[in-house]
Amino acid sequence: MSLAECRIVDLPKIADPRGNLTFIEGRRHVPFDIARVYYLYDVPGGSERGGHAHKALHQLIVAMSGSFDVVLDDGRGGKQRFHLNRSYHGLYVCPMIWRELDNFSSGSVCMVLASNVYDEADYYRDYGEYQLALARPHA
Ligand code: TYD
Repeated sequence: MSLAECRIVDLPKIADPRGNLTFIEGRRHVPFDIARVYYLYDVPGGSERGGHAHKALHQLIVAMSGSFDVVLDDGRGGKQRFHLNRSYHGLYVCPMIWRELDNFSSGSVCMVLASNVYDEADYYRDYGEYQLALARPHA
């Protein structure tokens, strides 16, 4: 899994004067079955979230409202900052990528679609441990 696989996904947008509509289907707009949805909201200005990598989890991150940045880091020197501010754009994050979220606008809502249910054992929360895991064969 590499940073090159992480990308902005253009989601369908049904434009309508009554209000726009976007939908996301597992295996069609995201390369995984959706097992869980969670969202961050009431994020105080200046907050940072994330600060971890997942061993096997695939995710799509969407700014449902407002904006924020996601910094992806492959643990090998590659880093990319994405500014999310459209509810019809999702950032696909593959497993074994370190992510940090910052620069939240007030009232922003960050929704995450995930390929599995919550499992603390799937997290690397220590950057050094994450890098050691990357250095192991088959990482
Ligand atoms: P964490 O993933 O560290 O949040 P973030 O990446 O946004 O900073 O999760 C924060 C806390 O919430 C942690 O105690 C685990 C818990 N949690 C769940 O119980 N279920 C979930 O689906 C998620 C994402 C987190």
